[in-house]
Formats: sequence, C-alpha cells, structure tokens
Amino acid sequence: MIVPSADLRALRRSTPAAALMAAVLVLSGCAGSSLDQSGGTQPSATVKIGLLVPLSGVYAPLGEDMGNGFKLYLDQHGGKLGGRTAEVVSADEGEGPQTGVPAAQKLVTQDQAAVVVGVVNSATALGLRDFFHESKKPLLVANAGANDITGARKSEYVWRTSFANGKVSAALGSAVAKEAKGGVYLIAADYAAGREMVAGFRKTFEAAGGKVAGEKYTPFGKTQDFQPFLSAIRGSGAKAVYSFYAGAEAVSFVKQYQQFGLAGGTPLYGTGFLTEGGVLDAQGEAAVGVKTSLHYSTELDTPRNKEFVAAYRKAYDEAPTVYAVQAYDAAAVLDKAIAGAPGGGGAELVKALGGVGPVDSPRGQWSFDADHDAQQKYYLREVRSSGGTVVNAVLSELS
Ligand code: PHB
Repeated sequence: MIVPSADLRALRRSTPAAALMAAVLVLSGCAGSSLDQSGGTQPSATVKIGLLVPLSGVYAPLGEDMGNGFKLYLDQHGGKLGGRTAEVVSADEGEGPQTGVPAAQKLVTQDQAAVVVGVVNSATALGLRDFFHESKKPLLVANAGANDITGARKSEYVWRTSFANGKVSAALGSAVAKEAKGGVYLIAADYAAGREMVAGFRKTFEAAGGKVAGEKYTPFGKTQDFQPFLSAIRGSGAKAVYSFYAGAEAVSFVKQYQQFGLAGGTPLYGTGFLTEGGVLDAQGEAAVGVKTSLHYSTELDTPRNKEFVAAYRKAYDEAPTVYAVQAYDAAAVLDKAIAGAPGGGGAELVKALGGVGPVDSPRGQWSFDADHDAQQKYYLREVRSSGGTVVNAVLSELS
C-alpha cells in the first residue's frame, strides 16, 4: 500500500517552492547599523532574515506552510519588522542535518542574515545548535521540537516559537490512560523527534496507570508500506495506538491504518502533526475519530484565530496549519525584538528576544519561558467530518 500520487498532489498544496523564493524581497543594504554622514551610527533601513525550511523531501509541505505564515505577517505589516524592511533569503533544509546544516551556514556566512528562522526537523535543529551558539547569531526555531535545544543544550542564541517534543506528547498521556480499554501500542518515525515524542507520551501515560502493549520505530523518510507494522500492532492485542508521524508519512500511516481495518476497533492517538493541514486533506474520512494533542487548531473559537484563519484563507485559498502559525508568530516576535535592537547585532537581538513578553497568537497567548521555549496551552483535538470536509475539532484544554 503506497500513497497514491493524487494524495501527494493534495499534500503539495497551493504555493510551490518557487513562489516562496519569489517572496524574497531583493533590496539593497544589510542588517545592522551603518555609519551616517556625520560619522554616527544609524539603524540600517533593512534587516536580512534567513528562512530555513524544507523545500524538498517528506516535510516540504510543512516548509511551505511556514513560508506562507511568515510572509502573511510581513504582508500585514508593510513588509517591515521592527520598523525595517525585511529582506527574506530562503534556503532548503531538506530532510535532515546533511542538507540543513550547510544551508544554514550559507545563510549566515554568505548571505549575512541577521537571524535564521525556521527548521522543521529535530535532527537538523540539534545539528545547528553549536554553529549558532559559537557564531553568536540568533536561531529562531519555528517547528523542530528537539528537547535538548531548550534543555540540556540550551543556548543564549537559540529560541523556539513552536514546542518541545517531550511537552506536546506528554500533554496527551493521562487522557489516553483514562480512555484506553487495555494496552496501548507506541509507534513512531525512527529519528530524534519520534523517539522523544514516544518518551514524553509514555511518561505521563504510565504515571496515570497506562500499560504499553508494544513499541516500534519505523525507518524515517523510507517507509511507505506500513502493513508489516500494522500486522504487528494487531498481533500485540493492543486496544489503542499512540503514534508520531508528520507530512507524507502521516498520510500513509493513517490511510493504511484504516484500510487495514484497525480504525474501527483500535482508537488511534498521536501528536497533532498526524492530522494537520494538507495531511488531513489527503487522509480525508480515513482520519475521522483520530485524537491528538496540539497547541493549535483552525477550529479554536476565538476572535484572534478567526481573523487569522480568514486572512490566511484569503491569501492562500486554504486553511492555515500549526506550522504556519509558528512561523507567523516568529515574525511577530522578531518585529518586537528588532525594534528593541537598533544595532542589529546577535547579542543585542537575543537580549531583545528576552523582552518581547506575551505574544497575542492565533493559538492563544503564549510567551517564552526561561529556557527560550514556548509556554503555552495544549488542546485535545478529534478529527470530525464537518460540511463536506474534515477538521480537528477542539474537545478540551489539556493540563
Ligand atoms: C521534528 O522533527 O521535530 C518534527 C517534525 C515534524 C513535525 C513535528 C516535529 O510535524
């Protein structure tokens, strides 16, 4: 069972990578301050932002959403961040550190970006940490959840507008322990994020009395046929499943889970990336009933979110995703920080990031915690059919 190309077409969504590149505003000048005619320093009129997201590979659709979210904020604010015209230079993160690390280095050393924003993959984020720490340039992670970059390996120069893998997954543990009618099987993509998601979930799940029926990690970026893994789940006698997949892998997993006949009797849970955005469009009815934890849903019933969803739909003719929100918020945070850092240097910019305070986001209000991670609410969501489409209905807030 391989994802049909029509599904992948649905995943590709409306704005191709080329359009993202076209969003680059080519303007003269560079980040930081410049000498004025009297010999004093003046803030430069422009600020250069490096946007590092996957433009290729399994996570390319996520990168596209992030580019769209960042660009929407700029479009709503006259193309400026902190009063300066933003010059956005994009680079392709690809599927991991082998491509993502050199692309980030190029943004900083060759393109002279004042700050790099983006990064989808946890392994890329971990691979980038030392480079940003040592070169004293700010990295604003707008997706990758690697625990250590705001934990054991935190740096003055690394900030995150998204989530930590251990937190977004831990939010779901006790709810599943209460609902499951027996042992729960844990399955995830085999790389840093999958392992950390399962560990985070397992901690709160077991603490609440949940029992694990089996555990499996599938080769990341290479697994299209999940049938052998689905057979193992059935053979384990598990009464429910917890999973981490995103992008094209999430489409294959959820569709095949249903085709294999597990969906009826064995409830499927996961972190919200499993059923987000274009992934959910491609899964369609196969995803109905899947329950997830996430810090965003298009269905959040607040004026701020409604206004954001309407603006995003108007700009891109599709619903936004958590990836778009995380990047939109990264632009909002930079808007404030750049205004508070007229010299434009890395040290000054990270100091200003520490002072941005609460962010009025479509996800609800959040702020940076002491480790530079997003302190925020998580929601319990369930995929439901609604008006001929499928959405992530918000059931409750998770504590
Ligand atoms: C990650 O690698 O940290 C990651 C990737 C995709 C997601 C979530 C987390 O949707």
